[in-house]
Amino acid sequence: MNDWSRALSVDRAEAQPGSGATFSGNRGLQIEEKLIFDEDGPGRCGVDLPEPPPFKARLGGIERHGPIGLPGLSEPQVIRHFTRLSQKNYAIDSGLYPLGSCTMKHNPRLSEKLARLPGLADIHPLQPLSTVPGALELIDKLAHWLKILTGMPAVALSPGAGAHGELCGMMTIRTALEARGDPRRRVLVPESAHGTNPATAAACGYAVDSIPANARGRVDGKALEAKLGPDVAALMLTNPNTCGLFEDEIVEIAAAVHRAGAFFYCDGANFNAIVGRVRPADLGIDCMHLNLHKTFSTPHGGGGPGSGPVMLAAGLAPYAPLPWLVHGANGLELVEHRAGPAEAAIGRLKGFHGQIGMFVRALAYMMSHGADGLRQVAEDAVLNANYLRVLLEGELSLPFPGPCMHEVLFDDRFLQDTGVTTLDFAKALIDEGYHPMTMYFPLIVHGAMLIEPTETESKATLDEFAAVVKSLADAAHAGDPARFRAAPMLVPRRRLDETAAARKPVLRWRPEPANREAAEAD
Ligand SMILES: Cc1ncc(COP(=O)(O)O)c(C=O)c1O
Repeated sequence: MNDWSRALSVDRAEAQPGSGATFSGNRGLQIEEKLIFDEDGPGRCGVDLPEPPPFKARLGGIERHGPIGLPGLSEPQVIRHFTRLSQKNYAIDSGLYPLGSCTMKHNPRLSEKLARLPGLADIHPLQPLSTVPGALELIDKLAHWLKILTGMPAVALSPGAGAHGELCGMMTIRTALEARGDPRRRVLVPESAHGTNPATAAACGYAVDSIPANARGRVDGKALEAKLGPDVAALMLTNPNTCGLFEDEIVEIAAAVHRAGAFFYCDGANFNAIVGRVRPADLGIDCMHLNLHKTFSTPHGGGGPGSGPVMLAAGLAPYAPLPWLVHGANGLELVEHRAGPAEAAIGRLKGFHGQIGMFVRALAYMMSHGADGLRQVAEDAVLNANYLRVLLEGELSLPFPGPCMHEVLFDDRFLQDTGVTTLDFAKALIDEGYHPMTMYFPLIVHGAMLIEPTETESKATLDEFAAVVKSLADAAHAGDPARFRAAPMLVPRRRLDETAAARKPVLRWRPEPANREAAEAD
């Protein structure tokens, strides 16, 4: 008898009426999933392959003689296991995903469909150029759109994420400074910056000097001026910044940075708030990465694959990483080596051109929205964040009053004396069917809660979300901290020991001691 259809249960609980416990350990149709290794059935196999014909071993005796330790499973078991796991995931396609700073944006199905076209999805990076003119044209067109939208003359498309774009940008700046015989040692980074900014500067060998924020949540201009000097290589400034605010002194800041002979690096991960409204080149920016996966849709989960193109001012363009796609006498041509016009290039940062699938999605997003549609996207993102701000400002506490950009930042002062923390509040939201907002970031605000609704959420969705947040705030003030500390209660897993999960993650299944001995003997 096949046993793959049985419910995967934990030990049977004592199922008292109304207790919520079940005999099977499952809840409703939520199945308690075992590890795939615990499903192992010796001799079971999902495929039926013939014995390979005799062959000559060429490994000099180092080949494995025992089994490799994969669990024995039937095909239906594997399908059910991974389907059930996927159903435990929460996603932007399931509901509101208000993570600030991470921009969980709707991915239009049109872009997804185009990215799957065989002529784009199935090409091999080593195919002869003559067989992929469409892909080259697509890359060129994307570069054109990015240059138009930012006003910047050059772009390096290969970086595979925002942080990778930062690395590319700072390496370009470092090379430009070295080329002019003026290597410098300090990079200024506002204390509200995304952690990748100081990490990038440090990875490039710079000392990181932090700039405080002013009472308005923006860079303190005076503190910045005081820190600028002949050893400063660059300022890395995020705009709109991680408090969801526009750095309104950015033109003056750019001028001060340039007076000091430094470069102005802008973290453009939040470009989705200003695309079509502001051209970064007009603000005096020398170098800026864009997160295609935040501004122009494309999937953004599990660390990627993303795309972090870097926009470069004319003075930095000669150092852009290879390969370059250029318009030559015979149409589009690739420059792959550090020679001729690309002599000063910093080399390669990634295999081939980068994430072509992301390029297709981003270009499809741009072209289907058009220039006016992109501006509308930015305006709607800002409108939605401000709508939530106005709905919630009477209940939650705003560290920096006044209009915000694409995300709205609250702090935990409204929870003062309630015994409820930001973490408790976020966990209680899960029980209400909402993915929590970003918590405890940016660090300059105590108990931060950063909410980014994005442009596609409807007024009705935002009203419902705000009503739930208000009800929770009222419950916190009514003096029931225990209900918050116990949350989440209605999910397959209750609260984990987050410190242990971060410090001592268990990332690998190991067999029981008996099995381990057998495995070691193999
Ligand atoms: C402001 C800012 N900078 C940099 C990054 C890093 O981008 P990535 O996660 O693609 O490396 C992010 C990520 O969301 C960000 O919000």
